[in-house]
Amino acid sequence: MPWLDGIRLHLADEVFPVWHAVQLETGDPDAPIPFWAFAWGGGLALGRYLRDHPDVVAGRRVFDLASGSGLCAIVAMDVGAVSASASDIDPFAIAAIRLNARANGHRVGVVARDVLDEPPPDADVILAGDCWYEEPLARRALPWLQRARDAGLEVVIGDPGRDHLPVTDLVEIATYDARTTSHLEDLRRTQARIFRLR
Ligand SMILES: C[S@@+](CC[C@H](N)C(=O)[O-])C[C@H]1O[C@@H](n2cnc3c(N)ncnc32)[C@H](O)[C@@H]1O
Repeated sequence: MPWLDGIRLHLADEVFPVWHAVQLETGDPDAPIPFWAFAWGGGLALGRYLRDHPDVVAGRRVFDLASGSGLCAIVAMDVGAVSASASDIDPFAIAAIRLNARANGHRVGVVARDVLDEPPPDADVILAGDCWYEEPLARRALPWLQRARDAGLEVVIGDPGRDHLPVTDLVEIATYDARTTSHLEDLRRTQARIFRLR
């Protein structure tokens, strides 16, 4: 990927053919957008942040919430995490994470369920890339991340300026001029920011 040199992801150029294929495969006309087929602004910026600050994950166990393509977990492994688990509720994302991890020569564990009503994961660091893009996930992500932080986990968030982002509960620690891989976002350059919990 140009933005993250050396990282290889299976990504789509256009959303609609992949989305249509998912609808046909599942027989579900309301199947979710194939988020896993793109690298989103929040995840891209978070990946870049980990490249710039490998100490955040090096030698530590990482949990990537709402991983999509697996991008953040893969970059974490690339810069020295001892293990990474990637969670997503979309079974196609789980397949994509496995494929993408393999394409980069990394082992990434997958958590194919919604963990937001569970206790914090057995990890040292949680990465949350672009988790505030729609209300249902946005509403539940922050309380879960706060519980994890209170239990001693470090939380790092990447976001490209989503409306649902609870900025008053966050502290900005870096800004990147990211370029998304999604035509849904017109391949626009976004000011993506990195946060910790306040
Ligand atoms: C905008 S994508 C971000 C993907 C990736 N983190 C990135 O930045 O490129 C959001 C992802 O959240 C996943 N998702 C939505 N609700 C979820 C939940 N409750 N638990 C885990 N993943 C969820 C979607 O399936 C989708 O893959």
